[in-house]
Amino acid sequence: MAVPTRLHHPHSSASKIIIFFCLSAFLGLALFANLFRASLSSNYLSIATNWVDTNAPLLLVPNTTATPNNTINNGKGGKVERRGPERFLSSTFADLPGPEWPWEQMPSAPVPRLDGYSVQIKNMFYVFAGYAHLDHVHSHVDVFDFDVNKWVDVFQIPKEMANSHLGVATDGRYIYIISGQYGTQCRGPTTASFSLDTATKKWKPLPPLPAPRYAPATQLWKGRLHVMGGSKENRHTPGLDHWSLAVKDGEALEQKWRDEVPIPRGGPHRACVAVDDRLFVIGGQEGDFMAKPGSPIFKCSRRHEVVYGDVYMLDDKDMKWKILPAMPKPNSHIECSWVFVNNSIIITGGTTEKHPVTKRMMLVGEVFRFDLDSMTWSVIGRLPYRIKTTLTGFWDGWLYFTSGQRDRGPDNPQPRKVVGEMWRTKLHLT
Ligand SMILES: *[C@@H]1O[C@H](CO)[C@@H](O)[C@H](O)[C@H]1NC(C)=O
Ligand SMILES: *[C@@H]1O[C@H](CO)[C@@H](O)[C@H](O)[C@H]1NC(C)=O
Ligand SMILES: *[C@@H]1O[C@H](CO)[C@@H](O)[C@H](O)[C@H]1NC(C)=O
Repeated sequence: MAVPTRLHHPHSSASKIIIFFCLSAFLGLALFANLFRASLSSNYLSIATNWVDTNAPLLLVPNTTATPNNTINNGKGGKVERRGPERFLSSTFADLPGPEWPWEQMPSAPVPRLDGYSVQIKNMFYVFAGYAHLDHVHSHVDVFDFDVNKWVDVFQIPKEMANSHLGVATDGRYIYIISGQYGTQCRGPTTASFSLDTATKKWKPLPPLPAPRYAPATQLWKGRLHVMGGSKENRHTPGLDHWSLAVKDGEALEQKWRDEVPIPRGGPHRACVAVDDRLFVIGGQEGDFMAKPGSPIFKCSRRHEVVYGDVYMLDDKDMKWKILPAMPKPNSHIECSWVFVNNSIIITGGTTEKHPVTKRMMLVGEVFRFDLDSMTWSVIGRLPYRIKTTLTGFWDGWLYFTSGQRDRGPDNPQPRKVVGEMWRTKLHLT
């Protein structure tokens, strides 16, 4: 495996913020490990309903330089009594500052979706499969037309195609769908892969992936489909393998996938973007929910997972992975949450590391920009709410997003409702 080369040594405020939060998180963990215990076997969606502390006055911003005294600043210019050594971290502490944007609500998708997938081809936005809830997955494609701002079409996916955790890519007419999870809850994956001709709406099988993967990073790059990372068969273990297949006009030009240079870090739910000679892989996580052993319905049960904001780049000159500046915070479930505009990768929402005290999942409400001219990240705006697995498009100056699982409200970043809402805002990159 190639040793990643660090290209930049950013001593930016962003990386300081990360270090700051990491330290804070560690402190919080150490102090409160015994006070708060999260259930490790809660259900994926119902986990969000276990939260009991929504109205607690959590005003303290973590400050690692502050010494543990008996009073703390309550953020409103006054002091409040501390009860012993406990100190609360705001449930929203990981939100990064960013401009509020005016968002306009557009027609909702015909169905709500979590872990759906999308591909934009000009003004047409194809939205694939996904969970309606843990016990129901979709088996169809919804199509939105950015020119008329309406959902204009719906058609079925092949019976053998996965329903979530797909790899998707397009050449501008054909859409390639690779592997993924077949069925509800935390069922097993399939190697079955397909191409869709969006002009005729005809599907064709592709050679199956050498091994099944959940949510592998997938992109069409220089005539080859590249598929890497993701989770292995048990849905949890990160895969490092990287395969490619030559394709043209929706057909494989080879019988078998080819081995490529493995990715330095595996795991699902990352953004994968090809820009000329460079392939970028951004964010994601290691570990994921797994089927409960022996459960006849493959009931999802929570397992340890680590979210990260790492950015890797493969340059076709030497085919070695390089490490670029990391995202302003760890971010996962962003595989279709990005667009590429004016040499910048724009990412909407996602899910970050669990709260260090409550152990609850925390969603992301920021819009991030990775400017490839300067190779720097910034937070350029905020979504109407925090949400993961957004499906994002860009058309005629408008940034659109739809679908995913949103938060419980401005003060509570935990996941709750699966939505099909669509929103847009005018994007101005300066
Ligand atoms: C903590 O208390 C000590 C002694 O009362 C004081 O000197 C110090 O400034 C206090 N620190 C903070 C952060 O309030
Ligand atoms: C953290 O606390 C120290 C000491 O109380 C203070 O000087 C500093 O400004 C605080 N930092 C932040 C980011 O609030
Ligand atoms: C992209 O750049 C063009 C040319 O400079 C500019 O007109 C346009 O507004 C930019 N797009 C965005 C979304 O900022």
